[in-house]
Amino acid sequence: MTITEHDLKETIAVSLDGGRKRTLGLVDPFSEDELRRSPSRLMSPLVWDLGHCANYEELWLLRNVAGFEATDPQLDDIYNAFEHPRWERPSLPLLGPDEARRYMHDIRARSLDVLEGVELTPEQRLLDRGYVYGMVVQHEHMHDETMLATIQLMKERPYPPAVQAPRAAVKVERDMVFVAGGPFEMGTSIEPWAYDNERPAHTVDVPSFYIDRAPVSNADYVAFMDAGGYTDPRFWTDDGWAYLQENKKTKPGFWEDGGIRRFGSVVAIDPDEPVQHVSLHEASAFASWAGKRLPTEAEWEKAASWSPDGRKRRFPWGDDEDVDGSRANLGQRYFGPSQIGAYPDGVSAYGCHQMLGDVWEWTSSDFQPYPGYEWFPYKEYSEVFYGTDYKVLRGGSWATHISSVRNTFRNWDYPIRRQIFAGFRCAQDAPEGRAL
Ligand code: AVJ
Ligand code: FE
Repeated sequence: MTITEHDLKETIAVSLDGGRKRTLGLVDPFSEDELRRSPSRLMSPLVWDLGHCANYEELWLLRNVAGFEATDPQLDDIYNAFEHPRWERPSLPLLGPDEARRYMHDIRARSLDVLEGVELTPEQRLLDRGYVYGMVVQHEHMHDETMLATIQLMKERPYPPAVQAPRAAVKVERDMVFVAGGPFEMGTSIEPWAYDNERPAHTVDVPSFYIDRAPVSNADYVAFMDAGGYTDPRFWTDDGWAYLQENKKTKPGFWEDGGIRRFGSVVAIDPDEPVQHVSLHEASAFASWAGKRLPTEAEWEKAASWSPDGRKRRFPWGDDEDVDGSRANLGQRYFGPSQIGAYPDGVSAYGCHQMLGDVWEWTSSDFQPYPGYEWFPYKEYSEVFYGTDYKVLRGGSWATHISSVRNTFRNWDYPIRRQIFAGFRCAQDAPEGRAL
């Protein structure tokens, strides 16, 4: 069954609106002053994200799709992420909260007008199956996640209390699953809204390996801490150890004596939740203490997407989106991760739990292009970040919207970063194939 152009436009309009409701809802409780200040040099003030989302939509859906003139060239400068690093943004002549909301509203009204008249023709790659609209939808959702990380950094600020995330529904064996060696298809050439860095689909021959059935939990992580994990250089890479000496970390981000600080309140450390707010360095030190290692992104994607009968799934559980929220903790339904075992209906073909949602998962892979990669539609989405500075994260978090994550989606960040909603699971070689 092919989806009609009319239905596709309806889906696009609904998706744009869903993202916008989420954005406006996130900033609604804050005063003008709170929106203009940033709690950390690592983050933009929230009001910058608002203007930036509108400016991105203007650029792509009005100017590039419909040939409109720029509303104000100064806005292009202020909201260009490459012109101004995050720490500088509070001092820019930003639109105020009300002006930014008006800018968002005006651009949206015009882009919905354009959408009505545009032909979503496969002849233009930007319009093929609504690609550029998917890009704008995902962009705003990604900024919503970034804004949540900013809000989490406003430590003392009470934020609408978390609705309790689901408790474990099944007891998960905390073993590793075996993934037999052999080729699988990595990336995608068919996913309509996939980014350039997920393309093209290509075959990767992955040697046999083991991967944790579930993410590393707080209890697991406390065992590492109690075993002197943070004081024994043998577990750390040189870079990781150097970072630790400089920054004196002894526990994950936001952990305090009495628990975990989460959106303005302190909650008890739940032993059965995936650990969150750890850097790649901490993740790899844990893995090495456990006699394991981090998975490569190819291993991660194979365990999440491949089925031993040789088919690739868009999501761990299959090809259909999780319409009722029963398969993954995504989309900021709760303000934190769910316990391990909360989504038995979301397991991958290999039996891995919670590959999507809950916490982003660090991999050991540098963010590099796939063979045959071509930038599209702009180099600054992925290409300028390729190299050895950034490591890939997979799987999305509780704050990631379903439209912005799938088995092939690639996120990236510096190995020292831990304000993002990231955890990990471990892997291990299986040199002789399946062990006993
Ligand atoms: C894919 C999350 C690394 O936030 O830098 C937002 C997404 N790109 N605006 C980022 C993005 C342009 C990007 N990450
Ligand atoms: Fe952006």
